[in-house]
Amino acid sequence: MILLAWLTYVPLQILWLPLSILGGLLVAYKQVWVSRKLGLSQTAVEVVNGRWTADLFGLRRDLASRRLAGKLPNNSVLGLYLALLPLLIAKIIAGRPILYPLLPEDETAGIASIVFSRTRRFDGLIADRATDVAQFVVLGAGLDARCYGPLANQGLALFELDQAVVQRAKRAAVKRAKLGCDRVQYIEVDFARPQWIASLTASSYDPALKTIFIWEGVTLYLSEADVRATLAAIKANTAAGSVVLLDLYAARFLALAGRGAAGRTLEATGEPLRFGLDFSGDAERVLADFAASTGLDLGRHYFMGSAHADGPFMVVAEFVIGD
Ligand SMILES: C[S@@+](CC[C@H](N)C(=O)[O-])C[C@H]1O[C@@H](n2cnc3c(N)ncnc32)[C@H](O)[C@@H]1O
Repeated sequence: MILLAWLTYVPLQILWLPLSILGGLLVAYKQVWVSRKLGLSQTAVEVVNGRWTADLFGLRRDLASRRLAGKLPNNSVLGLYLALLPLLIAKIIAGRPILYPLLPEDETAGIASIVFSRTRRFDGLIADRATDVAQFVVLGAGLDARCYGPLANQGLALFELDQAVVQRAKRAAVKRAKLGCDRVQYIEVDFARPQWIASLTASSYDPALKTIFIWEGVTLYLSEADVRATLAAIKANTAAGSVVLLDLYAARFLALAGRGAAGRTLEATGEPLRFGLDFSGDAERVLADFAASTGLDLGRHYFMGSAHADGPFMVVAEFVIGD
């Protein structure tokens, strides 16, 4: 069936190419230009579209992301369908995706699979700890839909934190998508302002309870000082045994993703890449030193792309709050 899928895909993709390009342009127009006009995050759209695609192709179940992605002013699901239709037909024939989207081993993961690879690891780390904590805090929540999926039924107090404009647009989209949000508390923050933590502690968030903080796809947009200050604020305001699940990026990833047209579109929506670590040498040591310097304990961690000669391009890690 794989051979048949390829034999179908190649001529179909050639014939469909103008429509795939039109789809790509539609998505890009909404994601970059409309985000810029509305002051919204284009990178948050990039991520929800990755999760939309993962669900459509059977890589990861996420109905909430599917529904949310279709209700955003700065996204085009029609464009996604147009761009991906030949691959979807090939997937139906083969019984699994060919070419894209794929979920490689961490060592061989690349930028094309970044959302699928990192989200799989975050999901696993959350699942391992969800029954051991009372609160779940999503830092820089963007369009993350975890609080509207199975996690919503586990009795956790749920908090979503993001910049005011991004959060308001998300709440409107959540409503349009008819996703249950009664249990979610929304808190407007800016991690560049040290007093952000007061907004969390002024809510029903309880610093005495064990908590999972998830900080997925955010640290690279902040300054190193703000990343450190945010971790310090969490450490000072949560119970021992709490954990921050975060991803950290290699300096070489920032250089690659921030150059040329890609870099200019990130600048256009005010999301330049800022904080990275040098993983080109002893990446384990660099990560351990960084964790130690924040006063948190490094737990499980997964480097992505470590088979590359220049080292991994990112890591998903647990930073545990000790006694
Ligand atoms: C790539 S998105 C990731 C969204 C989400 N974590 C996910 O995985 O779907 C980055 C998010 O970080 C948020 N962000 C960036 N800088 C921030 C800041 N200074 N304060 C609060 N949120 C910020 C953006 O608004 C955006 O929603």
